[in-house]
Amino acid sequence: MPESEATCCQEPEVDFVVLDRIIRDEFGGRREAMIMMMQTIQRRYRYLPEPALYYLSQVLGVPITKIYEVATFYASFSLVPKGKHLLHVCTGTACHLKGSGGMVRHVAAKLGIAPGATTPDMKFTLETVNCLGACAVSPVVVFDDKYYPQATVGQLNEFIEKVNAE
Ligand code: FES
Repeated sequence: MPESEATCCQEPEVDFVVLDRIIRDEFGGRREAMIMMMQTIQRRYRYLPEPALYYLSQVLGVPITKIYEVATFYASFSLVPKGKHLLHVCTGTACHLKGSGGMVRHVAAKLGIAPGATTPDMKFTLETVNCLGACAVSPVVVFDDKYYPQATVGQLNEFIEKVNAE
């Protein structure tokens, strides 16, 4: 794994060569691609590290306040480090009626964290979302970007146990 990637229990060091590759090579340093650059940076670090945002601001000539405005406007961006594995439980109406609230409580208790938080070992982040657009197959869970329709508590336990066994 490259040194600049986030690893368990530590914040990543921002690699400016990698940032240059993203900002200049991948997106041609175009301001209008700023959000896509931020998405790529977040995919790499699992959040938006402050030094990366300041560097983006400097290279693009966009005020840092504008970049933070974008980073805080979109719920998909995070300014705090996230766990290596992301678990999203839908708590929209259809999923709630199929028991997703109990699933959230179960996972929160099992991991010892509140919804929205990350485990101290940086392995898991538990988040709730309001409707993933798949109500017909509720309750829906997304684990590491993969959708699980008609999810069960047993599946959630499996995800956690699999990661803990790594
Ligand atoms: S409410 Fe969960 S997918 Fe719509």
